[in-house]
Amino acid sequence: MFTKTIFLPIMELALFCGLGGAPTFLVPIINPPFADNSPHLPSLLSMAMIEKKKLNARYERIYTQLEDLLQNTGNLVSRMATVAALLHHKMPHFFWTGFYLLDKGELIVGPYQGPLACQVLEKNSGVCWAGILRHSTIVVPDVHEFPGHIACDSRSNSEIVIPLLGKNDQPWAVLDVDSHKRDAFSEIDKQWLEKIVRLIPPQE
Ligand code: SME
Repeated sequence: MFTKTIFLPIMELALFCGLGGAPTFLVPIINPPFADNSPHLPSLLSMAMIEKKKLNARYERIYTQLEDLLQNTGNLVSRMATVAALLHHKMPHFFWTGFYLLDKGELIVGPYQGPLACQVLEKNSGVCWAGILRHSTIVVPDVHEFPGHIACDSRSNSEIVIPLLGKNDQPWAVLDVDSHKRDAFSEIDKQWLEKIVRLIPPQE
């Protein structure tokens, strides 16, 4: 009775919807990961190489464009706004891109692109302050693992902070970039962003 009235119609519906294939646990056995029609290890490696090359080429174009654009004015706000806008709109893995500036011992938000950010960062806490205190770039593959991380937007998952160094290598601001992806920032991002911030000299 049960078989006829309930079970058979369910099976018919499943077959009609295309669910009549192999049980889920058999799928990896029937279609192993590197079957003939899927990319194998060498091609995955060359895909990664192509992605690296594409990222480098994109940073190269951005850098050249910024070198030109930043000649137009020495105004700090304008320069920072230009850097943030160009990076943010050219880099798909950037979710928030902007600057925090030291002002009377506090880190205050400067020009940025992306969702609304914290205006003042709690002193000596989080990734931006770590960049200021350590005088060096901080790459955080998973912000949820970083002690004291300040979450201005819960969608951020990884972050890179580059301090801007002035006289005697003293930091006076940071470039902060957040990504919605985990582990989004590589050595390539680090090297290019460090080069890009050197295009912004501190105000006299
Ligand atoms: N996450 C930063 C705060 C700034 S926002 O990411 C825009 C930090 O921990 O310092």
